[in-house]
Amino acid sequence: MDVLEAINLRQSIGKVKPDPVSRELIERLLSAAVQAPNHYKVRPWRFVVLTGSARERLGEVMAESLRQRDPNADGEALARERAKPLRAPVLIAVGVDQPSLPKVIEIENVCAAAAATQNLLLAAHALGLAAMWRTGDAARDPGIKAFLGFEADQRVIGLVYVGYALSEPLPPARPSYEDRTVWQQFSV
Ligand SMILES: Cc1cc2nc3c(=O)[nH]c(=O)nc-3n(C[C@H](O)[C@H](O)[C@H](O)COP(=O)(O)O)c2cc1C
Repeated sequence: MDVLEAINLRQSIGKVKPDPVSRELIERLLSAAVQAPNHYKVRPWRFVVLTGSARERLGEVMAESLRQRDPNADGEALARERAKPLRAPVLIAVGVDQPSLPKVIEIENVCAAAAATQNLLLAAHALGLAAMWRTGDAARDPGIKAFLGFEADQRVIGLVYVGYALSEPLPPARPSYEDRTVWQQFSV
C-alpha cells in the first residue's frame, strides 16, 4: 500500500472481532514501529504485547488501580474497567525510556516513541488490521506500569488495541492543515 494512502485512510477503530491476530502479523507491526526516527539512535521505545489471559490480568490490575484512585468507584465502574482490555484480542503497551545520556532529552524520546506508535498504526492499516491508540488514567497509573514491567521513571504513552474490524469503516473525514499552517517568506 502506498504510504500516503495509508496515512490518509488510517483511522482509529475501536470495535473489533475477538478473532486472534497471528504473532507473525504482530511482529510485522513491531518491525514497522522500530523504523521510526530517533535522536542519537537511542531506540527509546519499549513494547509489551498482551494477548489471551494476560489481558484479563491487566483488567484486574486496572480495576484495582481505579479502586485506589477513586475509593468511591462502584461495582459497575470497576467491572467496566476490568473489561476494557478485553475489547481487542491484542494490546500493545508502548513505553518510553528516560534519557540515559546527558545529551538525550526526554521529550525527544517521547517524540520518537510516538513516531513509532504511528508507524505501528499505519502498518496495522496496511495489513488489514484495525487499531486504536488509547491512554486515559490507566496509562499513567503506577500500578499498571509496574504490572507491565516498566520502571517507575519510564512513561507509558499508549495502549494500542489491535484486532480485525467488526465492520467495514466508512472513509474517515480528514482534517485540513490550512488553519494550522502559516506560510512565511522573507525577501532579502
Ligand atoms: C496520545 C493519544 C492518546 C489517545 N487516547 C485515546 C483514548 O484514551 N481514548 C480514545 O478513544 N481515543 C484515544 N486516542 C485516539 C484519538 O481519539 C483519535 O486519534 C482521534 O479521535 C482522531 O481519530 P483518527 O485516529 O481516526 O484519525 C488517542 C490518540 C493519541 C495520539
